[in-house]
Amino acid sequence: MWDKKHIIAIKELERRHIEAIFNLARNFKELSQREIKKTPALRGKTVVNLFFENSTRTRTSFELAAKRLSADVLNFSASMSSLSKGESIVDTIKNLESYHPDIIVARVGFSASMRTFMRYTDASIINAGDGANEHPTQALLDMFTVEEAKGTLESLKVLIVGDIRHSRVARSNIFGFQKFSSSIRVCGPTTLVPYEFHKIGVEVFDDLDKALDDVDVIIMLRIQRERQESSFFPSLREYVERFSLTPGRIKKAKKGCLIMHPGPINWDIEISSALKERLHPFILHQAGNGLAVRMAVLYLAGTRRKEL
Ligand code: CP
Repeated sequence: MWDKKHIIAIKELERRHIEAIFNLARNFKELSQREIKKTPALRGKTVVNLFFENSTRTRTSFELAAKRLSADVLNFSASMSSLSKGESIVDTIKNLESYHPDIIVARVGFSASMRTFMRYTDASIINAGDGANEHPTQALLDMFTVEEAKGTLESLKVLIVGDIRHSRVARSNIFGFQKFSSSIRVCGPTTLVPYEFHKIGVEVFDDLDKALDDVDVIIMLRIQRERQESSFFPSLREYVERFSLTPGRIKKAKKGCLIMHPGPINWDIEISSALKERLHPFILHQAGNGLAVRMAVLYLAGTRRKEL
């Protein structure tokens, strides 16, 4: 039985929750291939997309997912709101709560903000990325994509490369894959892999050529310059030399290894543009799976909350 009002962190989900989401996502993926791609599952429900940070993939896929489920959708973007006139975030939420939304999908630049939101709304809250903390639906779509391609999530070797320190995607994927007994390696400049990662059961590398050996999945991450107050490596050129996935490096990866990226991609920084034609189709397929996974998450949040 589904027993979660909110989806805030992969850390808080059990394996059975993840499996329930994937079972539904498979059905919704099939629905998206039909001529009529909609279901009335959330008719009469209201979904608010509350984005205080920019987004392409997460915001659009949540919007489309809610529409495919026939919910009423309200898209809130901070840059076009009265926040620019000095209204506080709390007052913004209180105003939106006056419309009695059923689900709020929230992206915020600072970590652990979802708990604050819960104090001011009765809606189910879905975390669409909070600072460097967690991005649970990104990890769910990543894991769904891996399971689809590999037929299992059990006992895989997963490598996450790049700006681990600032990455909510890294944290959520680590907690998610570990629930299926997969082993995780992280690789990046030592300044971008804080000590906490040495304590959560992952292998830490600062040599990408060694880290690549025998892995089943590689998740490349973007350097999040917007979250860095100071530079964590001497130069971008040095970073690219040591940590960029290049045609030469990719030859060292295991045959059949999946190469993924949550987006947005900075070509020629984390991945060489010489690999674009080869790697981009699967990365776009990965992003496309976000629609079915987010439909599943909205469906569970919108239809099961009466049981709680
Ligand atoms: N992967 C991801 O969260 O992308 P957006 O910032 O475009 O939503």
